Parts: sequence; structure tokens; C-alpha cells
Amino acid sequence: MTELAPSGAEDLDIRTDDIKLHGREAFEGMRKAGKLAAECLDMLTDKVEPGKTTAELDNLVREMVLDNGALSATIGYRGYRHATCISLNHVICHGIPGPKPIKKGDIMNIDVTVIVDGWHGDTSRMYYAGEPKVKARRLVETTHQALMAAIDVVKPGATLYDIGRTIQTIGEGQGFSIVRDFCGHGLGRVFHDAPNVVHYAEYKDRWGGVHKAPDTVLREGMIFTIEPMINDGKPDVKLLKDGWTAVSRDKSLSAQFEHSIGVTADGAEIFTKSPKGLDCPPYS
Ligand code: MF3
Ligand code: CO
Ligand code: CO
Repeated sequence: MTELAPSGAEDLDIRTDDIKLHGREAFEGMRKAGKLAAECLDMLTDKVEPGKTTAELDNLVREMVLDNGALSATIGYRGYRHATCISLNHVICHGIPGPKPIKKGDIMNIDVTVIVDGWHGDTSRMYYAGEPKVKARRLVETTHQALMAAIDVVKPGATLYDIGRTIQTIGEGQGFSIVRDFCGHGLGRVFHDAPNVVHYAEYKDRWGGVHKAPDTVLREGMIFTIEPMINDGKPDVKLLKDGWTAVSRDKSLSAQFEHSIGVTADGAEIFTKSPKGLDCPPYS
């Protein structure tokens, strides 16, 4: 049995329903890790353009992470070999960087996770290569709005259900659909920890089974990501044969944003906010 540490004193692995309650040292570590991850995404804002390959963008991030004395959390993670996931157009998440050039009008998510002093900073944003179509832009802006509104409801006493409801209401309110097969996650010294943070409140599967977000109550010291994926078409996912790339089954456009956050005494601290204010495109 672990004795309860005095509040703010430290980062023992205190568990509540298996969700760790972190102390000040963890928040300081997460601040540093989150900042570097966000700076990597800032660096990319003027690098994404037609003709570039996603492998080139990945290399820029790998070099920046190493130059800062940090580690990429994704290189070597379950056999993954890259510093980013780059998910273009109808790719929902976990797109693998490669030699294919980006095309004019493409939209893409770039997701970076770094480890600084053992702490994980995990964040992603959307990018445009040139001018996207009006619908694509609306999808991207809605997804960012959904993430930020969900962070706004985070405080002690609110629930994981409240987070999911906020995202589902905004996404579906714009006629889009919420991806259910991937979720946010606790993180800290561990990359993917409890709890699962789903991005819906409720849905019925095709067999009529009802799925509900848990009403787990948020407490000060919880640290997790929120990373909604929203599709222009149906929510269904297909995994490609490479074992990573997740695409929308109907090939509709998909967007995602991700922040790493901590629950504070009266709200949330965002560890991965852009130091340059480049949180949502267009960036120029
Ligand atoms: N960064 C992703 C997340 O948000 C995880 C990527 S794992 C990888 O949780 F292996 F695909 F890189
Ligand atoms: Co994540
Ligand atoms: Co991520």
C-alpha cells in the first residue's frame, strides 16, 4: 500500500480507479515536454507545402527533438520507426511518413510525441498545403473548436462524459461524425496510460448496442490527452495492411487536433499550447 503523499509534494504513483494523480514535479516535467512538442509543430508551420514529402517533414522533427537533447516517444514504440505520424486527407491517424510528395489542397495532421526528462509531450495539429476547399477548412476549424471547448469543461468534478458530450455536440452539430475507434489517454512517465478519453458521449453500434462515455469524475492532478478525430462522412475506420494507417472507410476527409493537459484546482493547464500562437491553420 502506498501512503498518500502531502498535496503537491510528489509524484508517487498514487492511483484512483487506476488513474494517477500527479503532483507539482509532474506538472513541471509535463510543461517542458509539452513545450518542446509544441515547438516542433510550430517549426513545421512554414515547412508544409506542395512538393514536400512527409518523410522530409518527419526528418525535420527527428532532428529538432535530438538537437534539444530529448527523445522521440514514437521511434521504437511497438515497432513504429518515425518521429511523427502524418495523416493526409482521408487518413484519420497514424499515417506513416514516406516519399510521396504532398499535393496542393491537401490537409494533414502531424502528431509529435517527445520525451523530456522521462515526461511525455503529445500533441498534433492540422496543416494546409496551399488553399484547402471550403468544406475541408470548416472540418478543420470545427475539430479545433471541439477540442478547445472540451478542454474548457475540464475541472475537478467534471466527468469524462462531459468531455465526450462537448466534442460530439459540436462535431455532429456541424454535420460531421466523431471517430469512436481511437481515444485520448492518460500520460506522464507512461505514454499511454489510464484513462481512455473517448470523444463521444453516446452512440449506438450497428447491432443496436449502446456505448456511453464513462462518468469518471475528474480530479486535480490527472494528466491526459484529448485528441478528437472528426470525419466529413461516416465514422467507420479501416486499418491498412501496414498495420498502422487508419483511414475513413468511406474515404471522407478527416481532421484531428491533440493537446496534453493537466487538471488543476479550478480548470485545466494545457501543456502543449503553441508558444507562437499557431494553434490552428491557416498559419501565414
Ligand atoms: N501520438 C499518438 C497519440 O496521440 C500515438 C502515436 S503511436 C505511433 O497517442 F506509434 F503511431 F507513433
Ligand atoms: Co495521444
Ligand atoms: Co499524439
